[in-house]
Amino acid sequence: MAGETDIDALLQPGRGIVLRSEQHQDRAEILELTAQAFSISPVTGQAVEGTPVEVGLLRELFECGEYIPELSIVAEIDGGIVGHVISTRGWVGDEPFLGLGPIGVAPAVQRRGIGSALLQETAERAAAAGEPGIALLGSPGYYPRFGYVPAVSLGVRPPEAGWGDHFQVLALPGWHDGVRGTFRFAAPFGRL
Ligand SMILES: CC(C)(COP(=O)(O)OP(=O)(O)OC[C@H]1O[C@@H](n2cnc3c(N)ncnc32)[C@H](O)[C@@H]1OP(=O)(O)O)[C@@H](O)C(=O)NCCC(=O)NCCS
Repeated sequence: MAGETDIDALLQPGRGIVLRSEQHQDRAEILELTAQAFSISPVTGQAVEGTPVEVGLLRELFECGEYIPELSIVAEIDGGIVGHVISTRGWVGDEPFLGLGPIGVAPAVQRRGIGSALLQETAERAAAAGEPGIALLGSPGYYPRFGYVPAVSLGVRPPEAGWGDHFQVLALPGWHDGVRGTFRFAAPFGRL
């Protein structure tokens, strides 16, 4: 990976950040990056003991039937992976939808726009594929800037009632009236 002093220059528009689909040989590096990104729990703000649950979840998502290769996206600088996001097949009622997560950026380069770039790339790829929308469980302080809204405001209920406004949805151009009901993530999320 680039030295930290080089990072800001590399992150200028048109410079060295590459967004591309994950390849099978990237997986060990992505899992390590995810372990680092989630070493502080986004839920509690405390250090996580042992391997964060997101690592095991991601390992299962790579192998599950709901895996969608072009929606597992890495951000690369100087040949090193510095960020990753995955979206997998989910459903609202019986209608196909997407579930996003985990998303992680290497701690040394957080808050420099890499997470934003990964979220925008995901939305563009999903829209181009005709997907109706993307659901996620995350901070209401972060995702609304990308167009996510509380899911219930669009008639989509969370898998767990207590998730409240942390359960958010991005409506894409492929949105349709059939998108109503309770969201279900890919099977590995149910084993958390
Ligand atoms: C969340 C994460 C993917 C964002 O990626 P990033 O590259 O750091 O984010 P960006 O540079 O695109 O955006 C930075 C902005 O997002 C905000 N932000 C980042 N994470 C946030 C969070 N959890 N809650 C609220 N705001 C957040 C920052 O405050 C910053 O806002 P500002 O520009 O107004 O100061 C990254 O910080 C990360 O990997 N965190 C640890 C793992 C994690 O929490 N994953 C998401 C679980 S829902």
